[in-house]
Amino acid sequence: MKLDRIEARNIPDTRGKPTVEVTLHADELSATASVPSGKSTGSHEAKELRDADGGVETAVANVTGEIAREIALRDFASADELDTFLIALDNTPDKSRLGANAILGVSIAAQRLFAQEAGVPLWKAIAERAKTAPGAPRLYVNVINGGVHADFRLPFQEYILVCEGKTSSALATARAAFEKLGAELGDVPMGDEGGYSPTFDTLEKPFELLAALVAEHSGTSIAIDAAANELRNGRGEYTLLGKDYTAAELTSIYGSIVERFPMHSIEDPFSEDATQDFARLTDALRGKCLVVGDDFTVTNPERIEAAREAGAITAVLIKPNQIGSVKEAIEAVQATHAAGWAAICSHRSGETDDTFISDFAYGVGAHGIKAGGLGQKQRLEKYERLLEIEKEAV
Ligand code: PGA
Ligand code: ZN
Repeated sequence: MKLDRIEARNIPDTRGKPTVEVTLHADELSATASVPSGKSTGSHEAKELRDADGGVETAVANVTGEIAREIALRDFASADELDTFLIALDNTPDKSRLGANAILGVSIAAQRLFAQEAGVPLWKAIAERAKTAPGAPRLYVNVINGGVHADFRLPFQEYILVCEGKTSSALATARAAFEKLGAELGDVPMGDEGGYSPTFDTLEKPFELLAALVAEHSGTSIAIDAAANELRNGRGEYTLLGKDYTAAELTSIYGSIVERFPMHSIEDPFSEDATQDFARLTDALRGKCLVVGDDFTVTNPERIEAAREAGAITAVLIKPNQIGSVKEAIEAVQATHAAGWAAICSHRSGETDDTFISDFAYGVGAHGIKAGGLGQKQRLEKYERLLEIEKEAV
């Protein structure tokens, strides 16, 4: 395929911060993609290129300048070939030269174009490329926001209702539960990811509320994202609700949460390089609750492989913008599956209308998709895209 026109621009994300949007043209085909942006980011993520003022003008200029120029000279046989070319063009280990946001925008738009050219839905093109069996992911619906996404009104970043089954029935369950909880909580602010953001003075309270929802709805369970990188207190410990905890103390807190509540998974229970702490918790919770790497693994096949050698986790969060190309996000899924672990595909806390992650999660047959709460349009769109896929896939 020859790309004959490449456009890029900045658009606001859900926090009103600028992010990159790319449009590619090839003959009469065209495709657009936009890139999400995280707030509780891992230090090992690919680099999102930001100007000194927080803008993305340099990243946009890299797409319309160097990337457009180089791509115009070539003919690409596949989206994979284009990604390989972009990765080599950037030529840094973390995409810091051209920017992971610039490269991923082109990479996603290209995946869309190649799917159009082949005349198949996006999720199907991804499944063929990844050699995976497509299928509906569990919905990880954020119901309560804490951590950096909610000014630390609660210590853990996300309290999630995991809904199993067909997307249409899982989403109906999530809607009923989300509404019920909203009525119970009354007038509380919304967090960054479209979940409620109340304040409680005990660690248990959100778990009690979620456990009540689980008791009412079959096929549901609880997940949390502790996002423990953000809980570090600079003295090698973690601070939760004003109290300091060692990793060992935190391990026993997680253990008692899993004993008391219907838990499905715990994400980033410790800081991003605490491999041994992850491994100890994974051993303690084996067969009872998944331990998920996010900032720990950053969608990086090499870090996933290292985690596998250490037996550190049992599931991996997959965020394409942590690694900066569709190709490498697929490789991260493949490394996760090779380890026998669950892949959970995820949006970012700063989102756009782009629903690529829904097609990606379905295409790779992910264990789950984290797409946020039901209180924000850009999160709902991801779930609605999954509903469309459910119809396309019959
Ligand atoms: P982020 O948060 O997008 O702000 O990094 C999401 C997460 O930690 O899972
Ligand atoms: Zn996380």
